[in-house]
Amino acid sequence: MTQINDKQLSRIVIKSFKSIADCNLSLSRLNVLIGSNGAGKSNFIGFFRMVQQLFDENLQVFVSRQGSSDALLHFGRKTTEQLKFELWFGDNYYMATLEPTQDNRLMFTKESLRWGLTNEELGKGHFETVVRKNVPAAISNHIVSLITQWRVYHFHDTSDTAYVKQAHNINDNAYLRPDARNLASFLYLLRENYPASYQKIVKTIRLVAPFFGEFYLRPSPQNQDVIELEWFELGQDIPFKAYLLSDGTLRFMCLATVFLQPDILQPETILVDEPELGLHPYAITILASLMRATSKQVIVSTQSVELLNEFDASDVIVVDRCQGKSSLRRLLTHDLVEWLEDYSLGELWKKNIVGGRPSR
Ligand SMILES: Nc1ncnc2c1ncn2[C@@H]1O[C@H](COP(=O)(O)OP(=O)(O)OP(=O)(O)O)[C@@H](O)[C@H]1O
Ligand SMILES: [Mg+2]
Repeated sequence: MTQINDKQLSRIVIKSFKSIADCNLSLSRLNVLIGSNGAGKSNFIGFFRMVQQLFDENLQVFVSRQGSSDALLHFGRKTTEQLKFELWFGDNYYMATLEPTQDNRLMFTKESLRWGLTNEELGKGHFETVVRKNVPAAISNHIVSLITQWRVYHFHDTSDTAYVKQAHNINDNAYLRPDARNLASFLYLLRENYPASYQKIVKTIRLVAPFFGEFYLRPSPQNQDVIELEWFELGQDIPFKAYLLSDGTLRFMCLATVFLQPDILQPETILVDEPELGLHPYAITILASLMRATSKQVIVSTQSVELLNEFDASDVIVVDRCQGKSSLRRLLTHDLVEWLEDYSLGELWKKNIVGGRPSR
């Protein structure tokens, strides 16, 4: 198992979030979630979105957007009294317990952390985290920045109305947004300030789409404040707009940018739900090599046998659903040694040797 650093999550405990009734999981640098449709993979990844919103002091807006606390608690308020979680970074941790109120909000009934020598009980009855208010700034800034820079990507929308295909504010380039809506602005920044990373991205895209020549990144001639994703086919000098890109090519561009952006811009923990969407098996192989090469923590969910085959058994987390509850467990290599002599991981998944198959 590859080592993680102290800015990456080493363990996560979740109790009663959506289908995840009880999860206590060690995380390593590579974490590939497999499981049947509806097993709880996206719920697990969605949990990270909630925690980010919580640390942005935006929990109640998140709860309302999700359609009330009933939607977040395991089978709603009638079944679940509390949602609890713990985030461990080595020996340091943050933990919170949230309870639903009559008006269907979530209230903190416990919030605490231990960070180095700092041990804080942060009280109860509040609706947004009090970490920023009640924890010394040196610690709270560190924790808040660790968690708010997680990035949870899902590049499923490549329709004609997808934001990634629209003109976007050229200055929105601090990081690549979860749906890659600012891909052109971000690539523009990379080309100007980090040319080596930019060139790597372009070359890697060409491996998957040999007809791709170059991006055409420039402030829009009509409005210098915005930029659109434009590109040249190899040997052509008429720029194409983003809507002429195939869905798979566009998704691969997003993924190559995520994993090949310069180290200092790359979030410490990168989450991607279904990165394989619409990708050719060869593109999946390249994608897996990008994931393995980064020093960052990667958490992905997948239905792809090809992607699974690119990883070690110890990188895999199997999500099974049993009586409405998702169980998450890491594969143990020594249980599979003999099987792996004759079969690939993907074959073992299909043969139901490793779990992660549909059940009630
Ligand atoms: N509040 C909740 N309480 C209990 N179960 C829930 C709750 N919210 C969602 N679920 C369950 O979670 C399921 C969806 O899980 P999720 O989206 O994580 O699946 P998945 O593993 O990502 O599947 P796919 O591979 O199809 O994307 C729903 O079908 C529902 O059964
Ligand atoms: Mg899903």
